[in-house]
Order: sequence, then C-alpha cells, then structure tokens
Amino acid sequence: MRKKVTVVGAGNVGATTAVKLFERGYMDVVLVDIVEDMPQGKALDALESGPVVGSDAQIRGANSYEPTAGSDIVVITSGVARKPGMSRDDLLATNAKIISDVTKQVTRHSPNAILVIVTNPLDAMVYHAFKVSGLPKNRVLGMAGILDTARFRTFLAQELKVSVREVQAYVLGGHGDLMVPLVNYTTVGGVPVGRLLDQATIDRIVKRTQDGGGEIVRLLKTGSAYYAPAAATVEMVDAMLLDQKRILPCAAYLDGEYGIRGLFIGVPVKLGAGGVEQVVELELTSAQKQALQKSADAVRELIGAMERVAA
Ligand code: NAI
Ligand code: 2OP
Repeated sequence: MRKKVTVVGAGNVGATTAVKLFERGYMDVVLVDIVEDMPQGKALDALESGPVVGSDAQIRGANSYEPTAGSDIVVITSGVARKPGMSRDDLLATNAKIISDVTKQVTRHSPNAILVIVTNPLDAMVYHAFKVSGLPKNRVLGMAGILDTARFRTFLAQELKVSVREVQAYVLGGHGDLMVPLVNYTTVGGVPVGRLLDQATIDRIVKRTQDGGGEIVRLLKTGSAYYAPAAATVEMVDAMLLDQKRILPCAAYLDGEYGIRGLFIGVPVKLGAGGVEQVVELELTSAQKQALQKSADAVRELIGAMERVAA
C-alpha cells in the first residue's frame, strides 16, 4: 500500500507541495481547504497530469477531514500569507486560530501522523500545533531552515558561478530577520567559503538571505514565496517517508540542546521514519551562540504574544 500524505491549505504553497508530492509517485495525496470545490479542482487537474509525468499515485481534494484518515504525514499550510508591508508576526492571531482548528481535526483522523507545519509565523505556529496536538516532540516539526538555507546556497552559487550542489551550508534560528547563517560551516566543494569570498560579499549575501522572504513578497505584491517553500517541504517528506536519515535544518523542539529549552527553532536534525530522530548539536562560536539566543528570545516573545491573543 502506498504511503499517504495530507496537505492542508490548497493555496500557493499547499497546492504546489501537493503536486510535487503527487509527482514523486510513491504516496497518495489528499489536499484540503475550506474553499468549496477548489482543492477538488486542483487535485483533479494534478491527477490528470499523471499519465504525462508517470505517476500512478492518487490525489484528491476535500473540504472535510474524513478522506485524510490514516495519513502518515500531514503538512499544514493553511492560513493567511504575507502581503507587502506585513511582517510574519502580523499573521499571528489569525493563523493561530486556523492552526488550532486544523491540528485538532488532523490528529483526530490521523493519530499516528507526523505534522509538518509551514504556516507563518513559523516558529510560533509549530509550537502551537505541538501544544494543541499533544503529540510527542519527534512528531511535530516546522519547515523554514531548508528554505532559508536554500536561499543562502543559491546566492553563494550565483556569486561563485558554481553548481548549487557544491554549496553546503546551514541557516539556523527562527524563521525571521534574526535567522543565523553559519558562515564557518559553509563550504563550496569542501573549501570554506571564507577562503573564496571577501567579508563584504559574504555579509551582503547573509543580509539578502535574511531578507529572502521579503524580497519575494515585494516582487509578487499579492502573496509570498511558494516554489522554493514547496520544494523544501517535499525534501522533508521524502526524508521521513523513505527513512533517509537526512541531516536537515528544521524547526524542532529543543529541550536543552543549544542551551534552549521549551521552544521550536531551526536547528539541524536527523529526519527519518521516526520524524525528528535526533537534534544535531554543532559547535558554535560565541557570536553564533549569542545570535541563536537572540533569535530564540524573539521566538519566545512571539509565543508570549500568541498566548496573550489566544487567552
Ligand atoms: P495562500 O493564501 O495561497 O493559501 C492559504 C490557503 O489556506 C488558502 O487557500 C485558504 O483558503 C486556506 N485556509 C485558510 N483557512 C483554512 C482552514 N481553516 N482550513 C483549511 N484551509 C484554510 O497562502 P500560501 O502562499 O500558500 O502560504 C500559506 C502559509 O504558509 C502562510 O502562512 C505563509 O506565510 C506560510 N509560508 C511559510 C513559509 C515557511 O518558510 N515556513 C514559506 C512560505 C509561506
Ligand atoms: C518566506 O520566507 C514568507 O516565510 C515566507 O518566503
């Protein structure tokens, strides 16, 4: 029997993710949204691409959760996206309510699923889903670090005119302006990037990475990024469903690792069939430790604000 993945929210990120998952061919996909008929239409359209892309998987749309029953993974993208002039945090109250409702529904129908949260503000939403679901910490995680790292790798590859595959990097921390690109862990063909680019160029690329989401919002004007976010989400799903044991930066619950407790924040994790199988602790410089703490403080503040709004 094929694996089953539900994607909640059939907007830009959700629909793109669902199509990419369907094209993988080894999992069936259910796409859920509150807008009547829309997820059914998008799913049928994707299904009809099957003969062309060579996928025999099933994909269906729904406005209820019965068809999602027994999912192995549920990806939650439902919510309001950023518009120009809006910060991720502006989305807090609206999206917290949506995350509560959706999390209760999906865990009722798929009690054994792993939840991958995409909705912003990411680090607060994944914490909220964790609390509402009551699931163990290894089965709730957030997508952001792979996206932020992919942006960093893209800009470096463009600057150095090398394949993106040769650029290895980690961007840790919260999914916001205080994210922490780890320059000393960034290599190009095994060579530390500091030997290939001057500090001013690295600083410019770090800044562009930190503003990567905003750059796309300013260009799109009516929404935020979705191709790269969907690709990053699919990488996480593959790693878990195929038990790949990949080490990828994801928002994971920290219980003392990196000196942080009781928060979700972006760190490298081992992703396999068990979800977050291990938080990988890199040795950080004191400046990086401080930057990660600052990012964690911002996430803690956001959670406080969310709890006040929700109370
Ligand atoms: P979108 O507006 O295109 O799609 C959101 C969809 O959610 C809409 O179709 C809407 O009808 C649906 N929805 C709203 N309430 C719902 C509910 N209660 N149940 C089911 N569906 C519901 O937005 P887009 O661009 O797909 O972004 C989705 C979310 O992902 C946003 O919060 C955005 O900020 C976030 N995001 C996060 C990223 C990350 O790195 N973590 C990257 C990109 C987007
Ligand atoms: C991004 O980074 C909006 O969080 C979204 O593109």
